[in-house]
Amino acid sequence: MTQDELKQAVAREAIKYVVDGQIVGVGTGSTANFFIDELAKIKHRIKGAVASSEATAARLRAHDIEVYDLNQVATMPVYIDGADEITEQGAMIKGGGAALTREKIVASVAEKFICIADGSKLVKVLGKFPLPIEVIPMAQAVVARKLIKLGGEPRLRFKDGKPLITDNGCVIIDMVDLKITDPIELERQINQITGVVTVGLFAQQGADVCLLGTPDGVKTLKF
Ligand code: A5P
Repeated sequence: MTQDELKQAVAREAIKYVVDGQIVGVGTGSTANFFIDELAKIKHRIKGAVASSEATAARLRAHDIEVYDLNQVATMPVYIDGADEITEQGAMIKGGGAALTREKIVASVAEKFICIADGSKLVKVLGKFPLPIEVIPMAQAVVARKLIKLGGEPRLRFKDGKPLITDNGCVIIDMVDLKITDPIELERQINQITGVVTVGLFAQQGADVCLLGTPDGVKTLKF
């Protein structure tokens, strides 16, 4: 099976977690895109969706799925999204697609986080994938200096030769060379740096369920 087929398989499985008549929180990335395409097939059953990025909102609207502003929504049963890495305890690195802040916000409003990922994302220790951190642009240098003290190597993310600007008008610093043995503590430490908007560690509030695509079928991990 190709990686895309594994992603499609978990996207199909995730439909079982969608609650009829309710709003669904929808993540960002290639796996989330497969999920949106599956959601479109049952759109008559749901009230609508909250998007975690402009790209996701555009894809939902292209399928005629109503997109709600999060300020109109007090709660939702599930938030469904991919991950860059996930541990057997449900802690994740997210933000490879630069949408980490809105992802964390929408996830915080949902009762359950359903992670959908191909098997390559399951790791024993987080950190091989560079850890994304969204930062206020004027604080980029000072935040980078403080991140070095935490033991990693900060790199400003570029796109098309220029610093990538997120949906929130911020920049992304990727921390390479980390071995994250205590994700909850590192999330806490990075959150305390002034100028940091969001760190792409989802450990204090990790996944509740992970649907993992493997050649032997979709495995369900519960945390
Ligand atoms: C987007 O900012 C990320 O958090 C994605 O959820 C993550 O990068 C996974 O993306 P893929 O589904 O494309 O692997």
